[in-house]
Amino acid sequence: MKDILVLGIESSCDETSAAVVKNGREVLSNVINSQIRIHEKFGGVVPEIASRSHTEVINQVVKQALKDANVKLEDIDVICPTYGPGLVGALLVGVSYAKALSFSTKKPLVGVNHIEGHIAANYITFKELEPPFICLVISGGHTHLIHIKSYTDFEILGRTKDDAVGEAFDKVARVVGLGYPGGPKVDNLAKQGKPNIDLPKAHTEGLNFSFSGIKTAILNMYHKNPDINKADLCASFEKNTAEVLIKNTLEALKQTGLKKVALAGGVSANSYIRNEFYKLEEMGIEVYYPDLKLCTDNAAMIASAGYYSYINGRTSDLTLNAIPNLKIGEFK
Ligand code: KG4
Ligand code: ZN
Repeated sequence: MKDILVLGIESSCDETSAAVVKNGREVLSNVINSQIRIHEKFGGVVPEIASRSHTEVINQVVKQALKDANVKLEDIDVICPTYGPGLVGALLVGVSYAKALSFSTKKPLVGVNHIEGHIAANYITFKELEPPFICLVISGGHTHLIHIKSYTDFEILGRTKDDAVGEAFDKVARVVGLGYPGGPKVDNLAKQGKPNIDLPKAHTEGLNFSFSGIKTAILNMYHKNPDINKADLCASFEKNTAEVLIKNTLEALKQTGLKKVALAGGVSANSYIRNEFYKLEEMGIEVYYPDLKLCTDNAAMIASAGYYSYINGRTSDLTLNAIPNLKIGEFK
């Protein structure tokens, strides 16, 4: 079978990224231009600034991805931009760019769901991984427990009723003065602490989650006692979070009879959570998580998801638009 080269383009939040991926799993290039430095001084992503920054660098990022992969635009078979979910203005930059490229080169266009991209990061890291499996997507905007039935068929078994896990990490970091983006900073500080502080459980009914209670508890504790040991607080937060993530994941495995779980999304870079999930292997469960650099936003994962959409017969046309609240499994 002929090789298929996908050009992936990601601009849903604060990373402008382009990648060339062969046959869905082999990364030839993955250029990531992070705007973290720009948004840092505002304590979070400023949507207007994000869109403008994407516009400024996207052309250069795509050119660099082709150059790093040692291919020309003519060699590309499919062009795959993220079209949701995400910030509408940010998404539009990648979508418009990809549409213009598709129109001028007459190459097929396939819009990709950002969350499906996070899941696909696992296909790049583990060449042998195939559905079905359970995927726990934990990112800055999403907390989903998903039954991956096939490359294009997904069933959401559980989700957060309020904040996403990454959002809770970022909030906790802000409260205790660690700054933005909080996840990696909480991760580091927690290593010096002990999980000895009682916090409310982050579980609601069924396989759903709720992180607002734990976040508020930490906020109140810190305001009542600013001398509280920050490292202990971070370690306790991580322990509490990992416990509920694992509890619901085990229940999802039980309900589906599956023995394979993959993590995805920015928070799956968390060292404590990775470690705790890894322990499930002792129970005969296969545990997968993407390489660290593929956990957070990047275009290689988008290209991988786009490849599986494309070979399963999906293509978009030039009416493709940014859909900020695009649902998983939905293809428009
Ligand atoms: O997947 P992602 O890059 O963007 C979204 O699609 O949301 O996830 C970003 C989130 C942020 O909330 C960030 O704080 C969190 O992932 N994150 C982490 C770690 N690295 C990134 N959270 C905990 N521990 C980490 N090491
Ligand atoms: Zn993401």
